[in-house]
Amino acid sequence: MSHHPEGIAPHGGQLVNRIATHNQRHEFLEKADFLPRVQLTKRATSDLQMIAIGALSPLTGFMEQADYESVVNQMRLANGLPWSIPVTLSVEEEIANPLKEGSLIRLDDTNGLFVGVLELTQKYRYDKIHEAVNVYRTDDEAHPGVKVLYNYGDINLAGSVWLLHRDPHPLFPDYQIDPAKSRVLFQEKGWKTIVGFQTRNPIHRAHEYIIKCALETVDGLFLHPLVGETKSDDIPAEVRMRCYEIMRERYFPESRVILAINPAAMRYAGPREAIFHALIRKNYGCTNFIVGRDHAGVGDYYGTYDAQHIFDEFEPEELGIVPMKFEHAFYCKRTQQMATTKTSPSVPEERIHLSGTKVREMLRRGELPPAEFSRPEVAAELARAMNITTYEI
Ligand code: ADX
Repeated sequence: MSHHPEGIAPHGGQLVNRIATHNQRHEFLEKADFLPRVQLTKRATSDLQMIAIGALSPLTGFMEQADYESVVNQMRLANGLPWSIPVTLSVEEEIANPLKEGSLIRLDDTNGLFVGVLELTQKYRYDKIHEAVNVYRTDDEAHPGVKVLYNYGDINLAGSVWLLHRDPHPLFPDYQIDPAKSRVLFQEKGWKTIVGFQTRNPIHRAHEYIIKCALETVDGLFLHPLVGETKSDDIPAEVRMRCYEIMRERYFPESRVILAINPAAMRYAGPREAIFHALIRKNYGCTNFIVGRDHAGVGDYYGTYDAQHIFDEFEPEELGIVPMKFEHAFYCKRTQQMATTKTSPSVPEERIHLSGTKVREMLRRGELPPAEFSRPEVAAELARAMNITTYEI
C-alpha cells in the first residue's frame, strides 16, 4: 500500500497496490506451469488491472459473497463503505469444480497469456436475475450490461489478486497514468480541486460546455475517457482519443488539463455506474466528478437524471467526492451559445442537440454533424475514421 501525503483520500483510506513485486513475480513465474488456470474475459482482465493499480480501492481482489450480496442489495461493501457495482470473476461450473479454496490460481488473458494470480478464498453461486434487476434496473437481455452478465458462468471465484506485470497500454502508453501517478501530477501542478470527466463517446460541444462550466470553479481537469471494453456500436477508443487530443490542443488551456485513460470496461449500468465512476476518479485523486444527462446510460432504461439522484442516497462524506451535476446541454440559437434550460430562455425549436446515436447514424450516412454540435476538427476526425473524404476543415 502506498500512502497519500496530500490530496483527497482514496476510497477506504488507502491506495491499493496489487502489482507483483520483482520477487513475487519470480515466484509466480516459477509456479506458473503447475497452477490451475482460469482464462479471464476482457472485462475481468480489465478489472484485474483496475484492482492492481488501486483504481478500485479498497478492493484487493474479486468480491467474496458477503461483499457481493451487500453491494447488490445495499450498494455497500460488507463493511458499510459505499460501492455500487459487483466486481466478480464468474466462471462455468466445470471450471470452478476442480479449484480448491485456499489455493493459488493462475489467471490468463484472452490470448492465454499469464497475467495474474488469484488467491482463491471462496467459490459461490449467484443469482443473475437478481443482480440484473438491482444493478441494471432491468432483466432485459437486450441491455448490453445484462447481456454480458447472462453470458457469464454461474460460479463466482473470489479472493485477492496480484497483477504479474503492469505493461504499458498497447495503444495509449503515454496516457496510461495510474492513480499513484495522477495523484503526484495533481500535487506537482498545485491543484487542490480537480474535476474528473468520464466519457465513452467522441467529445462534442455539450461535453465541452459542461466540462468548462465545471473548470471555471476548480483548479484542473482530469479528462479521463474510458478505453476498456464498450459495446460494438460505440466509436473505437483510438478514434475518440484523437478527438480528445484535438480538444485539448485547440480548445483548452494546456496547463489546466491532464488527459489520461480509464482502463475500465463499460457496464451501461446508468445510476449505479455513475457512483462507480465517481469512486474510481476519487481513487485517481479527483475531488469532483461530472455527472450530466443519462450518465452511463443506454437506450431508455434510465431516467435522464437518475444518475444524479442516486448520489442523494449517500452522505457526502462517505462518498468523499463531490458530484457536479449538469442538465441536458444544447446549442441555443436564440442566445447563440451552449446552454441548458437553466441558462437559456429558448423554446425547444431553438435548441440543437444530437444524441450519440444520431451522430453515429449521420456519420454512417456520410453526413457530418454541424458546428453547433461538434467542433469542426473533431467532426473531420470522425469523418476520416469513417472514410469520408469530402470534408475540408
Ligand atoms: S457516458 O456513458 O460516459 O456517460 P458520454 O461519453 O456520452 O457517456 O457522457 C459523458 C458525460 O457527459 C456524462 O456525465 C454524461 O451525462 C454527460 N453528457 C453527455 N451529453 C450531455 C449533454 N448533452 N448534456 C449534459 N450532459 C451530457
